[in-house]
Amino acid sequence: MPEPARIGLLGRGTVGSAFHDLLAERAGAVEAASGHRPEISGVLRRDQGDFERILAGSDLIVELIGGLEPAREYVLAALRAGKPVVTANKQLVAQHGDELFAAAREAGVQLRFEASVAGAVPVIRVVQESLGTIELERISGIVNGTTNFILSEMTSTGASYGDALARAQELGYAEADPTDDVNGADAAAKMAILARLAFHTSVHLDDVSYEGITEIRPDDIAYARELGLSLKLLGIAERREGGISVRVFPCFLLSGHPLAPIEGSFNAITVEAPAITEITMSGPGAGGIETASAVLSDVVSILAGEAPVHSPGRSLEILHDLDSSFYLHLEVADRPGVLASIAEVLGRNGLSVRSVVQRGTGSEARLVMVTHPAPESDFYAALDEISELDFLRAAPRAIRVIEEEYR
Ligand SMILES: NC(=O)c1ccc[n+]([C@@H]2O[C@H](COP(=O)([O-])OP(=O)(O)OC[C@H]3O[C@@H](n4cnc5c(N)ncnc54)[C@H](OP(=O)(O)O)[C@@H]3O)[C@@H](O)[C@H]2O)c1
Repeated sequence: MPEPARIGLLGRGTVGSAFHDLLAERAGAVEAASGHRPEISGVLRRDQGDFERILAGSDLIVELIGGLEPAREYVLAALRAGKPVVTANKQLVAQHGDELFAAAREAGVQLRFEASVAGAVPVIRVVQESLGTIELERISGIVNGTTNFILSEMTSTGASYGDALARAQELGYAEADPTDDVNGADAAAKMAILARLAFHTSVHLDDVSYEGITEIRPDDIAYARELGLSLKLLGIAERREGGISVRVFPCFLLSGHPLAPIEGSFNAITVEAPAITEITMSGPGAGGIETASAVLSDVVSILAGEAPVHSPGRSLEILHDLDSSFYLHLEVADRPGVLASIAEVLGRNGLSVRSVVQRGTGSEARLVMVTHPAPESDFYAALDEISELDFLRAAPRAIRVIEEEYR
């Protein structure tokens, strides 16, 4: 008779309910894979269950409450009691990772969090385990399905940001309050987690600089399409001279980039290193059953005794002022000398221009240019100066461009 595995389930909402059902449905497969017969030993909800009692009666805790408290308190208590924990809670891991991993190490128990990044896509396992001993150079990710859906909708239909967001809400791809998705904060939390694993260093959500997609206009996308570029909200964690950088921002990609074809609410992650060239994984990034399947895979790994390495590792510096190329969109009065004045400001700030498109619109003109890579601080200094020029008719718009070619 196989040993039972008593699972304490904290939270039975969208993911918790799907996990509860999936576990019942797949109990035989879990038993075959792990040698343990899983059973739910208790369920905690706002008005159901008692945490201390559930903890005492469980071999493993699954945290699907979300948010920081009381999830943090419960996860720490479980780890300190020597019980392994599975969580889908990106905010918890991104903001309290150091404390949680230290507690797991001290107690010699596992903390697994596959479902916290990219839902059903097994990116944590790949980065932490399959590629755990490879020196990774960069992880680029579309890790927020809501924003990828909105940008895809704007690209395919020419819809405004507001209309595309309304469509995403109608179809259930965006929450009633989409703030954390559209401003980049959700993606930033996921990139903090991936960067920690990729570079074996402490990374907190506060280390991640992020921008969202609320200022994107359909004509930015239309111009870029003419240049063969597609727009994505990307998270990029990369090794640079002197440290690492972790950022989230909307950017244009060349058509050969592995993340350029990812459409709709899908997530996708590209991992790069000399030893592996490039690996891209994609799939559904959210949803009850999809997320529950990632939670279940973590449960099976723990029951089967597979131990991931939680390397305390090193403490790498987080860099912020990197070189980037920019797409710059300017609406100006159509009169002589405008282009020369802009070129003078750019040149004085050490920026050179790769391409310029100029279109007349009556008494006004639209200038769209792409700059060569330069320190972002220089670009933004130039942008501040350009904003003050008297012939400017609207605030300038700038979006990064990833220029690397992939085969
Ligand atoms: N939904 C997704 O597609 C998705 C995808 C990836 C990751 N995640 C992550 O999965 C986790 C759960 O998300 P969800 O969408 O399933 O959330 P949810 O539907 O809001 O469910 C939350 C559950 O936690 C319970 N809960 C909330 N506060 C509690 C408290 N103070 N004490 C005890 N129980 C409490 C709720 O109780 P009641 O039932 O009493 O309300 C509910 O059962 C979050 O960390 C989320 O970020 C979700």
